[in-house]
Amino acid sequence: MINWQRIEVASNRPYPIFLGVPLEGLGEYLQTRSLTFDNILIISTPNVADRYLDRLMEGLKDFVVNTLSVPDGEEQKSLARIAQLTTEAMGLGVDRRTLVIALGGGVIGDLGGFFASIFMRGIRLVQVPTTLLAQVDSSIGGKVAVNHPAGKNLLGSFYPPMAVWTDFSTLETLPWSEVQNGLAETIKHALIADRDLFEYLEKNLEAIRRRDMTVWKEMAGRSLAVKVKKVSEDELEQGSRALLNLGHSFGHALETELEYKGITHGQGVSAGLVAAACLANSRGMLNSAEVERIVNLLKGFDLITKVDTGALERLMEHMKGDKKNQAGKKILILPKGLGLSVIVKDCTDQEILLAWQDVT
Ligand SMILES: NC(=O)c1ccc[n+]([C@@H]2O[C@H](COP(=O)([O-])OP(=O)(O)OC[C@H]3O[C@@H](n4cnc5c(N)ncnc54)[C@H](O)[C@@H]3O)[C@@H](O)[C@H]2O)c1
Repeated sequence: MINWQRIEVASNRPYPIFLGVPLEGLGEYLQTRSLTFDNILIISTPNVADRYLDRLMEGLKDFVVNTLSVPDGEEQKSLARIAQLTTEAMGLGVDRRTLVIALGGGVIGDLGGFFASIFMRGIRLVQVPTTLLAQVDSSIGGKVAVNHPAGKNLLGSFYPPMAVWTDFSTLETLPWSEVQNGLAETIKHALIADRDLFEYLEKNLEAIRRRDMTVWKEMAGRSLAVKVKKVSEDELEQGSRALLNLGHSFGHALETELEYKGITHGQGVSAGLVAAACLANSRGMLNSAEVERIVNLLKGFDLITKVDTGALERLMEHMKGDKKNQAGKKILILPKGLGLSVIVKDCTDQEILLAWQDVT
């Protein structure tokens, strides 16, 4: 029985995503591509490397492999860490014929990917995502970046990998709070373009909570298919890729207000999805029963649907800095029923303020 799948991502440089493949099998695939590189640099974090590096190395016995370790944490996505990686890579003899494997969650994917995109003007890259968020979202679409004190992901590029290698079994060791981050993005994907996925999540809530891997694979496969579709339609985010920001304009404002403390990204997105749903409801795009279903699904995964901050004016202020805004106008993504979202350019501050009031 074939239990793995290959999905092609349309891009300036198209690439495959391999789903349900074992970490040990990556080496065999790389043998078929080895004309383009002659040594490998794995970038990972101890948390992930301790669990999964041996399995990956199992398949890489015929290659010259070096490994660089990066501590855990969003703050590692920095130019200082890129400089450090460069020094270490030069010490290891990394050159233009090196392939980088980013083994880890979205932080390693973004950091390792950005490193690969600029080291010697760009070297080959394979993404091996190990969190739910990275598997359904960040490893797909070619965005790589580091942060700057002036903003998250401010310095980055579009750098499609040679391949994405996704072994779902790595999810078995993921802590629940990290699972929630991926679930929030999965609910977002369902609301953007897949009503069946929304209903699948509702129906399988308990199975997902008890980590039924058969259900997780189905859920992750459907979720990432939405991301693949959107980035394939609009790789450089000139139009419809912006739909992937559903819930994020509100969520980022919240994370900024709370200085990224005491709130995970998934919780920010969750509250953001509720705010977007309430705004859509006020415009007649979503009925009250549908808003309730969204709220119930989020709550079912212990995601927040209300936040305890009275700082409405400041939340409004933070939304002014949203990257999607055009000529001072706030651009929002709103759900239109369950399973379809649209870009809305004419929301007034009053409407947005009322949506904030619904979640605070
Ligand atoms: N490039 C994109 O398109 C894109 C999209 C969404 C998010 N992102 C970025 O992704 C980052 C967040 O990624 P994340 O949520 O994966 O967080 P993360 O990379 O920080 O990983 C979360 C934690 O899980 C641990 N971990 C990873 N895999 C594990 C496993 N299999 N078992 C046990 N522990 C494991 C990590 O060590 C870390 O402690 C942010 O920096 C965000 O900006 C990028």
